[in-house]
Amino acid sequence: MCGIVGYSGSRPAAPVLVNGLKRLEYRGYDSSGIAVEEGAQLKSICRTGRISELERSLPDFHLTGSCGIGHTRWATHGAPSEANAHPHLSCEGDIAIVHNGIIENHAELRSVLEKRGHRFTSQTDSEVIVHLIEDAYARLAFQTSEDDDMEDALGKREERTPASEVKAGEPSLLLQALSMATSMLIGSWAICAISSHEPGIIACARKESPLVIGHGADGEHVASDVTALQGVVPQVCVLGDGQFADVASHSFAVFSSVEERLISAKGEMMRLDWNAEVAERGRFADFMLKEIYEQPRVIRDTLEGRLNHGAITISELSLTHEELNLVDRVVIIACGTSYHAALVAKNLIEGWSRIPCEVEVASEFRYRDPIITPSTLVVAVSQSGETADTLAAIRDARIKGAKVFGITNVIGSPVARESDGVIYTKANKEIAVASTKSFTGQLVSLTLLALLLGQAKGRLKQAQVRMLFNELANTAEQAEAILKEASAIDEAAVSFKDSRSALFIGRGMGAAVAEEGALKLKEVSYLHAEAYPAGEMKHGPIALIEPGFPVIAVATQSPTYDKVLSNIQEAKTRGAMVVAVATEGDEGIGQFADHVIFIPRVRDAFSPITAIIPLQLLARKIALLRGCNIDQPRNLAKSVTVE
Ligand code: G6P
Repeated sequence: MCGIVGYSGSRPAAPVLVNGLKRLEYRGYDSSGIAVEEGAQLKSICRTGRISELERSLPDFHLTGSCGIGHTRWATHGAPSEANAHPHLSCEGDIAIVHNGIIENHAELRSVLEKRGHRFTSQTDSEVIVHLIEDAYARLAFQTSEDDDMEDALGKREERTPASEVKAGEPSLLLQALSMATSMLIGSWAICAISSHEPGIIACARKESPLVIGHGADGEHVASDVTALQGVVPQVCVLGDGQFADVASHSFAVFSSVEERLISAKGEMMRLDWNAEVAERGRFADFMLKEIYEQPRVIRDTLEGRLNHGAITISELSLTHEELNLVDRVVIIACGTSYHAALVAKNLIEGWSRIPCEVEVASEFRYRDPIITPSTLVVAVSQSGETADTLAAIRDARIKGAKVFGITNVIGSPVARESDGVIYTKANKEIAVASTKSFTGQLVSLTLLALLLGQAKGRLKQAQVRMLFNELANTAEQAEAILKEASAIDEAAVSFKDSRSALFIGRGMGAAVAEEGALKLKEVSYLHAEAYPAGEMKHGPIALIEPGFPVIAVATQSPTYDKVLSNIQEAKTRGAMVVAVATEGDEGIGQFADHVIFIPRVRDAFSPITAIIPLQLLARKIALLRGCNIDQPRNLAKSVTVE
């Protein structure tokens, strides 16, 4: 949510920054902006809409400066507008900042700063940061005191000594001012600041929101996400929580704050393995489609090396067999699509290990003082590995003494770093905002975990584990078969593209698939969709059904298949237009459904992995027919780093 870039080097900064922002656009795309050092001044350009709007205006500004910062925004405080777009500038226009995160005490700070003479030009929470830095900088560089009002402070500008150069182990004045400013903030942040008084320096600070720095042949790059730097630099320094950094044109220095002083510190380096294909759409019309077609590969890669001598191995879990055996409760926390993967896992964990398993959305979990004991295994599922609520829930669970196991797609992400053990879903970078291949990676990883727990509790024998694992592995081929034949999906899409609402139903595993199918439809097509356990339909949603109302039923072979069929008939009798996802060979279902999408027969436990694919394709096709932006739906962001 919101993306930050910075560059200080030997090339003109503006195109470098805009390219970086384009790669981060999935983090937010309602407005964007850059600020570049041009001679003794800072020049900034902000535009609403996509990064392409910003890119289009670049030629008018003839920016040549080689140090700057940029930002792509997902609005929290203040509507999407040019005034609210970052970078924000100080009253004198000599300091600019970009910020990702939330400043919780912005209202109090704003009122104090306004009393001190600062003039605000936006409604954002972030703008207080630049004014706080401006105040602190005046104190450091121009020897003003906190009691001087702003006018006096600014008057002393002329007396200033030239800004210090960055010397090894010594923070720049800008960084010291940034550190003083952050000591006043409550909330979370990744901040980059530049000042016309210290050319070539980008001062950085991080608390909770991620920030990485990369050393390239052409200069130093900063970004809120490695995605912006993949293929640009070979490795990055991951700024630690609470750390600061001075980034100059060909070097950078990391600092920690010790008793309000900045002391040299070591940053943690991380190699970037970059596969250029990930960022290319190739033969596909959009990334969502490409990523849907990657799912068979994700299944294979996530399973690779997990069955050894008939036993599931997840060494990253860092729990011994005995410790696993002591687990008496599993709590899975997640948001969005990851939450739906968790709903599937609950059935598998309870079914195979008989350990009670609860699933909870992270934003509820963290605020309700949940009962967690040292024998609870908490599993945090997050594609991005940086969802603010999921991270807060992890921290809470660890304080309560639980072991936390993370399931994420992003190597080195906060979820990976803050969990006791982590399993990577091997989906590779997911670019479309609506999650597809990551869901599959999560389902497979959670299934492995469920098998492991069943094995540890002695409820699954070696032969069963082997058989289940092989069936799980077969879903890759079955997914391929589904992807080859999509004509029934296209027909169904045409018949309800103009509807206003749709109901998704299913039971057991099918209920979780229905939830994810409805979410996909909402996200990309803006059609209202609601998922209901099929048996609950009679308790309310059935009132919605009138002739032509779309009902999408997950009706694969399962212990509750007959019940789902009855529910479909109840809908059909009332005139619903039924789309059913059913198992190949089910000859009877055609009489109750207007459209049937057949998928290969799989064990009920693994059916979500295959049954979701037609629903992903259906949602995308409907969105396409309705003229929606498939990869970047309105109002959404790929990483939700605010509460
Ligand atoms: C956002 C994304 C969703 C995602 C959810 C949880 O809403 O748009 O696709 O499912 O966040 O994100 P996470 O990265 O924690 O899985």
